[in-house]
Amino acid sequence: MSNETIDRSRTAAAYDALAAWYDRAISHGELPLFDHLLYPAVQRVLGDVAERSVLDLVCGPGHLSRRIAKRGAHVIGVDVSEEMLRRAREHARSSENAIAYYRMEPTALAASWHSTFDIVVCNMALVDLEDLDGTLTEVRRVLRPAGRFVFSLIHPCFVMPGCEWVEDERGNKLFKRVDRYFEEGYFGKEWYGQGGLRSRLGGNHRTLTTYVRALRSHGFLVAALDEPKPDGHALRLHPQVLGPQLRVPSMLVIEAVPDPRIL
Ligand SMILES: C[S@@+](CC[C@H](N)C(=O)[O-])C[C@H]1O[C@@H](n2cnc3c(N)ncnc32)[C@H](O)[C@@H]1O
Repeated sequence: MSNETIDRSRTAAAYDALAAWYDRAISHGELPLFDHLLYPAVQRVLGDVAERSVLDLVCGPGHLSRRIAKRGAHVIGVDVSEEMLRRAREHARSSENAIAYYRMEPTALAASWHSTFDIVVCNMALVDLEDLDGTLTEVRRVLRPAGRFVFSLIHPCFVMPGCEWVEDERGNKLFKRVDRYFEEGYFGKEWYGQGGLRSRLGGNHRTLTTYVRALRSHGFLVAALDEPKPDGHALRLHPQVLGPQLRVPSMLVIEAVPDPRIL
């Protein structure tokens, strides 16, 4: 399997170019997986955020930042793409909740943010980041000792390079074919199914073991895990897209907390 083709697509310019489509798709409800599975699951795992200081790490156009701020949190968002940040700031102007956005690499957050945040949230973006260790070092540093790190991923066991639904001649989904789970690394957009975000960007595939080991090596314990399924309302609205999610999940939300034994 060759995964060598793609470095250029991972620059900030690639994300700048994606920003208009991505922002519009979320704003117009064109990503039912986000609206009906992802955001509710992230909010479930986050719980009550009122008056909490939250860093939205790799915030994109800030849709999650605004949802969290609306629930009473004090939110800062960081991202590497100026265009994503421009859109985030523009949305924030028409929102009643103040959110500060900064251009920053997740591996080099502000030095002054040591032990600053109650919660770091990272929504669907660790897959975009190459340096997981460098990112977790910074997450651990900026979190308060009793803080929480909540992140979501495309499910590493069921949404991986080359995976696909196998369909019958009428287009009914029979089962999902996954393979080469243990082959990690960056895979270009051609490795991912049509229509979604990864088919425009590619992403870094890592096994679940890699994520949990990386968390452990940075002093985190996994405290909660959610594999969201659609409810009846969501299924009625988007049966084609969400129906298969009752059989094989596409999303995973994890809460990690600093291990009190090594504080
Ligand atoms: C799939 S989007 C997710 C954005 C946001 N978390 C959300 O929920 O919409 C991935 C984001 O990763 C950002 N990104 C990619 N590589 C990055 C890097 N090295 N440093 C900071 N941000 C990066 C992109 O600019 C983009 O906003």
